[in-house]
Order: sequence, then structure tokens, then C-alpha cells
Amino acid sequence: MKILVLKSSGNKKGSSAILADEFIRGAKERQHEIVEYSLTGKDIRPCRGCNACGMNGACVQKDDYEKELKDLIRKTDMIVFAMPVYYYNWPAQLKVVVDRFYSFTTELTEMHKKTVLLAAAWDNTPTVFRVTKAYYETICDYMQFTDCGMVLGGGCGTPDMTRSSKYPAQAYELGRSIC
Ligand SMILES: Cc1cc2nc3c(=O)[nH]c(=O)nc-3n(C[C@H](O)[C@H](O)[C@H](O)COP(=O)(O)O)c2cc1C
Repeated sequence: MKILVLKSSGNKKGSSAILADEFIRGAKERQHEIVEYSLTGKDIRPCRGCNACGMNGACVQKDDYEKELKDLIRKTDMIVFAMPVYYYNWPAQLKVVVDRFYSFTTELTEMHKKTVLLAAAWDNTPTVFRVTKAYYETICDYMQFTDCGMVLGGGCGTPDMTRSSKYPAQAYELGRSIC
């Protein structure tokens, strides 16, 4: 399977990257093909809502989304959303990627992608992932994605905290379980 891992944190060696790398290590052991894509430094602009695409056409913004990410998404079987939790939600840079699904919503929905959520947060409270998880599940429903698993790393506030938690092992096992 071809797996696109979207890394959304500016901390390239941060907590969500640790979870992503462990997922990748597990998935590679199962011979999956991995495409890593870091959003950091990319020119990916928010949807303007102009509707020129009609939800099914080219976007008027010729940025890195339209030039490279859209095609990577098209050609992949699975999308892994790796993220830090920001104010109980997805970080803006990754939310923009989802908003930009708009230009090919019909096409993407019909592709029935598989997805994974890997999230890191400082807090380890019952509510810290409530919105992040609910948003992910709602997007999976709407886009007809099949959720293949989540790692919700509470208490993963720094790379050291993350490395000493149980979550890198969970991410690795999830990567190994993908079929
Ligand atoms: C703008 C911002 C907002 C944050 N909001 C939350 C939050 O709502 N809850 C939480 O537990 N941690 C929050 N954090 C902490 C990060 O989620 C946490 O440090 C995470 O490990 C960062 O992952 P990274 O190393 O991949 O960037 C926030 C951090 C930043 C920079």
C-alpha cells in the first residue's frame, strides 16, 4: 500500500514526528511504500471559498497544494494525519489541507481512502483529544475515509516526554498492523 504521512508540526523532531516516524518504521516492516510530506515551509494557502472549482475542478491558487500535494493525495491509498494538538483541535496548517479537499471533494470521496490519526498533546486529561478526535471521525464519515486507527498521545508535551511514554510503541504497532 502507498501511504502518505502528513507531518504538520514545525518541530521536525518533535512529539508528533516521533509518533509518525514510529508508525513509518512499523509500516515499512510490512513493505508498505511511504511518502513523507512535511507541511513546514510549504506554500499552502487557505481555501478562499471562491467556488471556482465547483468542488470538482482545479483550484485557482497555484500553490504547493495544487502543484504537488493534491496529486500525492490522489495517488496514495492511505493518509496519515500526524499533528500536535493546538487549543484542543487540529493545527491550522493541517486544517487548511482538509479545507483544500474542497476542489476535489467528489473525486476524493469516491476514492475511499484509508486514514490514520496520530496526535500529540501536552495534557493527559479525558477531554484533551475530544475535539481533535471528533473532527477526525466526522471528516472520515463525510469523505468516506476508512479509519484504520488512532494514537492519541496524552502527556506527550516534549520529545523526551513522548519518547518515555507508551505512545511511540502504539504508533509502531499501528504501522505494523496496516494491511
Ligand atoms: C499553539 C499551541 C497550542 C497548544 N495547545 C495545546 C492544547 O490545547 N492542549 C495540549 O495538551 N497541548 C497543547 N499544546 C502543546 C502541544 O500539543 C505539545 O507540546 C505537542 O507535543 C507538540 O507537538 P510537536 O512537538 O509535534 O510540535 C499547544 C502548543 C502550541 C504551540
